[in-house]
Amino acid sequence: MASLLGDVLQDAGYDPEVFTDAELALRTMTDEPPALVITDLKMQGLDGMTLLERMKTLHPSVPVILITAFGSIDVAVEATRKGAFHFITKPFRMKEVLLVVERALQHQRVEAENVRLRREVERRYRFGEIIGKSHLMQQVFGLIERVAATNSSILILGESGTGKELVAKAIHYNSARRDQPFVAVNCSALPEGLLESELFGHVRGAFTGAHANKNGLFVEAPRGTRFLDEIGDMGPALQAKLLRALQEKTVRPVGGNKEIPVQTRIVAATNRDLRREVREGRFREDLFYRLSVIPVRLPALRERPEDIPLLVRHFLHRVSHELSCPEKQVSSDAMRQLMRYPWEGNVRELENVIERAHILTQGDTIESDDLLEELRPAAARPAEPASPTPEPDDLPSLEELERRYIVQVLRHTKGNKEDAARILGIDRRTLYRWRTRHDLDRAIDAER
Ligand SMILES: Nc1ncnc2c1ncn2[C@@H]1O[C@H](COP(=O)(O)OP(=O)(O)OP(=O)(O)O)[C@@H](O)[C@H]1O
Ligand SMILES: [Mg+2]
Repeated sequence: MASLLGDVLQDAGYDPEVFTDAELALRTMTDEPPALVITDLKMQGLDGMTLLERMKTLHPSVPVILITAFGSIDVAVEATRKGAFHFITKPFRMKEVLLVVERALQHQRVEAENVRLRREVERRYRFGEIIGKSHLMQQVFGLIERVAATNSSILILGESGTGKELVAKAIHYNSARRDQPFVAVNCSALPEGLLESELFGHVRGAFTGAHANKNGLFVEAPRGTRFLDEIGDMGPALQAKLLRALQEKTVRPVGGNKEIPVQTRIVAATNRDLRREVREGRFREDLFYRLSVIPVRLPALRERPEDIPLLVRHFLHRVSHELSCPEKQVSSDAMRQLMRYPWEGNVRELENVIERAHILTQGDTIESDDLLEELRPAAARPAEPASPTPEPDDLPSLEELERRYIVQVLRHTKGNKEDAARILGIDRRTLYRWRTRHDLDRAIDAER
């Protein structure tokens, strides 16, 4: 029977390999999967059902066709449940077999194409954990791919919550250093002295409490990636020391007198405008250029609203998974609202809003009303100072502040004066007077 089938398939233009021993067939197929398997059910040694099971673990996508003289429903059901493509009962016509074979191969081609498309979407719209279909994010993905392969220092810039840490990790895990540690240090979290010994190490007795020598992060796991987060907050003394480490590729532990060679990759990030920090003398220019050999700028979420639906789906999926409850939907009204919102806290804020809405919404769909509390107009929230410690020169006059605030509100309402007046708690005539006094229309036009 096997060789007869083999001949028929050969004549039909296939390239069959005929076995009378299922074990041997399995061994042959282990490394190189065939396009398709046809097997009898009752055989000496390994039976067809077991062969089917093994094939499904070995190469799940290879279709298996079972042939049997025992046309019992039970067996057919079991075979289908185990993933058989088709079940042919003896006696059968060769034409029937050829038809089933053709269909199985066709089916497999479609499946393979679907998998390929799904993977492509995955690959194109996400980079590791980073999601984004917008042109801006696609550019970032391309850049990550290219810089990961190099050893250059990388500076990641972007507002808070835009995914700087995610990108730093993606760079590491796509580089040749992926099997080495990714070590993150937050430069704003530690006092300068501690940060110094954390990064560069110290020798015993260097300061009170230094009971033993300590290797800094630059020395340990030298082939890993150092992620220096909030680099804009690093003080001048450490900036100088970091520059030395990058230029001379050596570090000197606190209290030590020996230089230790280091070979490390630095990925730094900041949400500050580092160029401005340089201009204003708070950040060393030479260090800035050293670090930003390749700058990666992460766009704010409001610059790429087309990423919002994808992110929303991603976060909904994750919350429902974490809470093991069914995934909720977002009504199209609510989605439009989410896409219009200015997201000052960027993706992190969106993530929090979606998580809360998922938990607090009763039904299975998140409606606009469920977001009302979350998406208060940005201007109605207590204004956050632009920088935590404004320099005396930065302190604006009340009039200036008033002007800036009105511009901000008008921008938020997209120029709608009625809405703006309501948010500001004044009537339209007063708003009109203010606008002329501050020459606001020009200010807003100038921004466009
Ligand atoms: N493109 C994205 N796709 C999926 N999740 C994202 C994306 N961007 C950010 N996130 C998520 O948003 C949150 C904030 O990201 P991350 O911590 O990387 O931001 P950050 O730029 O380092 O912010 P900060 O400046 O406040 O430290 C994380 O939970 C992260 O997983
Ligand atoms: Mg961060």
